[in-house]
Amino acid sequence: MPAASPPRAMPAASPPRTIPSGQAVSMLGIKKTLAWCYISAPLYVQVVGGEYHMFKPPGLSTGQMVKDGGYLPRQLYIRHQDKLDSIPEVQAQVTRHLAKRIAQDDHQQAKQLLVDMVEESFQEPRAQNFQGLAPTVKVLVQQYSQRGPAIRELALLANKNYGSAVHAVNVAALTLAYCFKHGFAGEISAEYGLAAMLHDIGKLAISDEILNAPRPLSPREFEMMKSHPEEGLRLIKGHGFSRLVEEAVLEHHERLNGQGYPKGKSKISLAGRVIGIIDSYEALTSDERPYRRPLSCLEAIELMHQETREGKFDLAVFKSFAYCLT
Ligand SMILES: [Fe+2]
Ligand SMILES: [Fe+2]
Repeated sequence: MPAASPPRAMPAASPPRTIPSGQAVSMLGIKKTLAWCYISAPLYVQVVGGEYHMFKPPGLSTGQMVKDGGYLPRQLYIRHQDKLDSIPEVQAQVTRHLAKRIAQDDHQQAKQLLVDMVEESFQEPRAQNFQGLAPTVKVLVQQYSQRGPAIRELALLANKNYGSAVHAVNVAALTLAYCFKHGFAGEISAEYGLAAMLHDIGKLAISDEILNAPRPLSPREFEMMKSHPEEGLRLIKGHGFSRLVEEAVLEHHERLNGQGYPKGKSKISLAGRVIGIIDSYEALTSDERPYRRPLSCLEAIELMHQETREGKFDLAVFKSFAYCLT
């Protein structure tokens, strides 16, 4: 009897060239602006009949395919698991490209890239996805700290679909404007920028029905919404984020008069006070809610000044933020 051959390592399964429509694999559309960032994973096109055919094999970029005379279909698809696994790769690619866009003063494109990438990063609450945002924020600090008020303009650039990613990018841009105006060191500015980007990360645990309600929230819904700072801290805790980032995530809705949440604290970290003020300003001036009109910059500052007098916000931080908007 021949000796049993030793077990062989299984070759990595190569991805299917065709995926029948209705198969259990869930396919997700990818943003055209980010298609070039997916290199390791295969991308698919959907054909008549609903089947998916492989368009780009693993290891190649769509940029290379276009260079070689190919075309880019209007919509490309990716397998669900591949998309989640690709987030760090997408973040790294965008970060590389971002520096170039900003150097060319193409802030519109820079913002679009950032918003799309943050949206991808927020899709699945994994700490590694959030850690991948730190190098991106560092690029923003390196590039924009030399460019006067351009970072503030980044926050003002309109974006068609206002959502959590746009809010995160706007709060981060305004926070960096604040840091630059006040001469914070590069590493501290980067910590503040990351804190701003992640401040609402706990909203990933809140249902879309509550987050996107086209009306004021009911008391019960508001109670659920109030859990997002603690949910956020739970998501990032123990994954190498600094204390400053953790405090901003947990305390950005606390108010000095004790009327904030989740704890009703009146002693709030500096990061919590700074991000709390900038977050409120961004929410008031944005199209965040369809049932109320956004305030102008001046109206928002007047309202917040009144609230500061009532004891909600730190007067010194509020003044220095208002000053950096001028
Ligand atoms: Fe929040
Ligand atoms: Fe927020």
